[in-house]
Amino acid sequence: MYFSYFTAAASYLSVAVLVLSCLVQGILGEEVCGPLEKIKVQHQWASAYRGDHDRLKMSTLVWKDFFAHNPEERARFERVHSDDIYSGDFRAHMVRVFAGFDLLIGALNQEDIFRSAMIHYTKMHKKLGVTYEIGIEFGKSIGRVLPEFIDGKLDITAWRPCYKLIATGVDE
Ligand code: HEM
Repeated sequence: MYFSYFTAAASYLSVAVLVLSCLVQGILGEEVCGPLEKIKVQHQWASAYRGDHDRLKMSTLVWKDFFAHNPEERARFERVHSDDIYSGDFRAHMVRVFAGFDLLIGALNQEDIFRSAMIHYTKMHKKLGVTYEIGIEFGKSIGRVLPEFIDGKLDITAWRPCYKLIATGVDE
């Protein structure tokens, strides 16, 4: 008798916990990089990456911000002259990185292309010792600089989960 009361109470309790956690998740709104978020990110990125002049200015500000917040990271980019971010070598590096980023953002809703590009970048960055955490740091720099180059406010609830896809990487 006591046993069945106990099991009934326990199962009510677990249902209540389940309902409560669903409610909390619903209220908090778990962030996803769904079709709508992908379009929002693509739209805002396109508006920032438009003209060549803005492109270089934006890239330079992102790297400047990144090194200001993560000074120890400068050494990783010695080969491309990171002691002078206005040097030709570093400018070429910035162009390569943001061309890659542009490709990834453009391919967010083309699963096969996104996946194969991501496999390439993940493999390359893993060899260079780039971790998820430092990838997120770079994303924060993008997030701090981008608002200056877009019309309106950065759609952070779309950018956060979509950028996370890139920082997480894809293994073969
Ligand atoms: C967020 C997206 C990123 C994209 C799309 C990206 C893309 C690229 C591309 C296209 C290159 C040039 C590859 C080549 O020369 O063929 C590159 C190089 C490199 N990336 Fe990234 N990158 C990203 C983030 C990062 C981050 C966060 C780090 C580490 C802080 C990093 C570290 C490096 C290093 C060390 C190189 C080699 C530089 C050299 O030429 O010596 N990347 N990346």
